[in-house]
Amino acid sequence: MIEIQNISKHFDKVVAVNKISLKVNNGEIFGLLGENGAGKTTTLRMLATMLKPTSGRAKLAGFDIIKDAEKVRGSIGILFGGETGLYDRLSCEENIAYFGQLNDMKTPEIKERIKVLSKAFGMDSYLKRRAGKLSKGMKQKVAFARSIIHNPDIMLFDEPTSGLDISSIRGVQEFIKNCKEEGKTIILSSHSMSEVEKLCDRVGIINKGSLVEYGTLEELKQKHSDEDLEEIFIKLVGGKNEH
Ligand SMILES: Nc1ncnc2c1ncn2[C@@H]1O[C@H](COP(=O)(O)OP(=O)(O)O)[C@@H](O)[C@H]1O
Ligand SMILES: [Mg+2]
Repeated sequence: MIEIQNISKHFDKVVAVNKISLKVNNGEIFGLLGENGAGKTTTLRMLATMLKPTSGRAKLAGFDIIKDAEKVRGSIGILFGGETGLYDRLSCEENIAYFGQLNDMKTPEIKERIKVLSKAFGMDSYLKRRAGKLSKGMKQKVAFARSIIHNPDIMLFDEPTSGLDISSIRGVQEFIKNCKEEGKTIILSSHSMSEVEKLCDRVGIINKGSLVEYGTLEELKQKHSDEDLEEIFIKLVGGKNEH
C-alpha cells in the first residue's frame, strides 16, 4: 500500500507539488495523469526517497519515506522514462546483475531472476550484448528488468512509454499488466489518456502541483456526466500549465 499525506515540494518560489494526499491499494495500478510540468516526476521522486518533501509525509509498504528511507528503497522498483541510465559498456545481463548486487541479492538468485525476466521481456537474443549498442526499446526493457530485479512489491513508473515506438509501447504495457497480475502495487505517470484508460484501476489528475480529481474511470465519468477522460482532463486542467 502507498499512503501519501499532504505532501508538498517547493523549489524556491515554484510550488512543484502542492499538498497531495492519496492512497494506492495493494494490487492496484494508479495512474497519475498530468501535462508537462504538472508535478508527476517530483511526486514520484519524493516517494522514491530521491527528493525530500518540503512538508507532508508518505508511507510505502508501511515504511516512512523519511524515517525508513532505506527500507522504502528495498521495497520499490523505480523507472524514470527518457534516459535509462544504463552503463553502455556493460552487457545487458551485467547491467541487470549489478542492480541485484546493490540490492543484496546472491549470485544464484540474480541468475535465476534474470532468466525469468529475460524470458518475460523477450531479451534472450541480446542479453550478452553491450547496452550501448541497443535500440531505445531494447534499452527500456533492460531498464525495466533492472528496476525490478529484486522483485519489489511496489513499482513507480514515470512515463515509462514516452519516446518509444508502438510495438515497444505495447511490450511495456503488457509487462505492467503482468506485474499487476502478480499482485504488485503500481503508480504509473503518464500524459497519455489512452494508456491510463487501458491500464489503470484508478486515476488522479494533477495540475500545477495539485491533485484536482481522483477516482476510478467510472467514478470520474459519472461525476462528469459521462464525458470521456480527455474531455474531463481538458475541463479540469484547462489551458496552460505554467507557473
Ligand atoms: N530540481 C528542480 N528545480 C527547480 N524546479 C524544478 C525542479 N524539478 C522540477 N521543477 C519544477 O517543478 C514543476 C514540476 O515538474 P515535474 O515534477 O518535473 O513535472 P512533470 O513530471 O509532471 O512534467 C515544474 O514547474 C518544474 O519546472
Ligand atoms: Mg516528468
